[in-house]
Amino acid sequence: MTETMIAVIGGSGIYDIDGLENATWTKVDTPWGDPSDEILTGMLNGVKMAFLPRHGRGHKHSPTTVPYRANIDALKRLGATDVISVSACGSFREEMAPGDFVVVDQFIDRTFAREKSFFGTGCVAHVSVAHPTCPRLSDACETAGKAAGIKMHRGGTYLAMEGPQFSTLAESKMYRESWGCDVIGMTNMPEAKLAREAELCYASIAMITDYDSWHPDHGEVDVTQIIQTLMGNADKGRDLVKRLPDLLGADRQDCPHGCDKALEYAILTAPE
Ligand code: ADE
Repeated sequence: MTETMIAVIGGSGIYDIDGLENATWTKVDTPWGDPSDEILTGMLNGVKMAFLPRHGRGHKHSPTTVPYRANIDALKRLGATDVISVSACGSFREEMAPGDFVVVDQFIDRTFAREKSFFGTGCVAHVSVAHPTCPRLSDACETAGKAAGIKMHRGGTYLAMEGPQFSTLAESKMYRESWGCDVIGMTNMPEAKLAREAELCYASIAMITDYDSWHPDHGEVDVTQIIQTLMGNADKGRDLVKRLPDLLGADRQDCPHGCDKALEYAILTAPE
């Protein structure tokens, strides 16, 4: 048994955690460079918490320049056991409306300009990401969201695009109609893959801000619209996060899905 530390990586609109005791911002050094920002740590209802603003305070990193490896490494070094991603997303489904949250469970990774692995030079490893999110952690997110009165959808495929531009209409329709995606965002990859390599449980909460560009009754997506919806969503997101410590508890049993043992059969390089 280990001690739980819940780490929240907050996207646009979420820049801290309410009610943290002994809240301290700490700079963490990693071999992969600096994380997006200092990391806020503290206790909430007897459980260790960490919070990292994905784009940095003041929104300094674009989805492409977010230092994903440094972020995951820094959280691991601080003792994180569970990582929850909160991010703004577009929706490909009528029923997943702006203001709703989706606990996604699959990804299609279309990013191409980011470092995606901790392995490759000196040590080669291939982890499985067939099931890239942790069902136990996703259960807690769904329960917390429902208790906070949020319209929650469980399961969905997240298309991770490079950005920074939004999709063309043809891309939007292809992702929705041919590829069967449910939501679209720019940041969950390679974050989810790196969390698995770091043997951390990972769950992703997509806060729906828009219908991308496919919806005939809605105009094309723009940042003003996203920010407006985010303002309404941020309080809901914070309420959800506050409920997680009671659901997960301070004493952490091993992950029943093996997220915390992902490297056991993954490393090919022989030990020296
Ligand atoms: N983030 C919020 N809305 C988005 C969209 N439609 N596409 C990509 N990222 C987004």
